[in-house]
Amino acid sequence: MTSEVKDSKPAIPAHNVVLYDLSDSLRRADLLQYTAAIESLTNEAFYTGREKKVKPENVQRAILQADAVILVLSEDKKTLMACMVGNIRRHFSGSSVFIDDVITAPPFQRNGIQSKMMDTMIAWAKDIGLERVALYTERTNEAAIASYTKKGFRDRHIQTIAMVRDL
Ligand SMILES: CC(C)(COP(=O)(O)OP(=O)(O)OC[C@H]1O[C@@H](n2cnc3c(N)ncnc32)[C@H](O)[C@@H]1OP(=O)(O)O)[C@@H](O)C(=O)NCCC(=O)NCCS
Repeated sequence: MTSEVKDSKPAIPAHNVVLYDLSDSLRRADLLQYTAAIESLTNEAFYTGREKKVKPENVQRAILQADAVILVLSEDKKTLMACMVGNIRRHFSGSSVFIDDVITAPPFQRNGIQSKMMDTMIAWAKDIGLERVALYTERTNEAAIASYTKKGFRDRHIQTIAMVRDL
């Protein structure tokens, strides 16, 4: 009798991690078709139960003006599984890619997708000569902190406060 070891995780569908380097204008048009999917992924991740929602025009502007956008699509390209945005910041102290809007849709979490997106973003950043990769996350976001720590990010323990005002 043969014994079968079953994985408790459901199998993740085949998918593609695509980095859109937005110095290529052709890729921008391709990206726009995913506006509604990005909007709903972001609303579910950050705005569930909240009145303020992501506006489609802001999604479009952000994806069109970003330096790099990563989308993880199912093989048939119909399902948006995850996304990540990278913007270049040039300081007197050096250049970095600043990462925002990191989301893996709940059914696909814990399958290494954030990890693959980060590897892809870092490879691109190195390729164009950037020196650092940086991001903010909330101190209460245990999943995000654990996943970034696993990728080698370290808490700088700086006494920064995030200040913001509407215009
Ligand atoms: C944070 C987030 C992007 C991680 O995406 P993911 O694709 O599930 O991450 P990965 O599968 O690549 O995880 C890599 C590692 O991170 C750690 N990790 C990820 N999620 C975790 C969780 N919920 N609890 C503890 N550790 C976690 C684990 O070490 C994991 O490796 P393992 O599964 O082999 O143990 C995802 O949970 C998410 O979209 N959350 C909601 C949106 C959000 O908060 N985004 C971050 C804003 S800064």
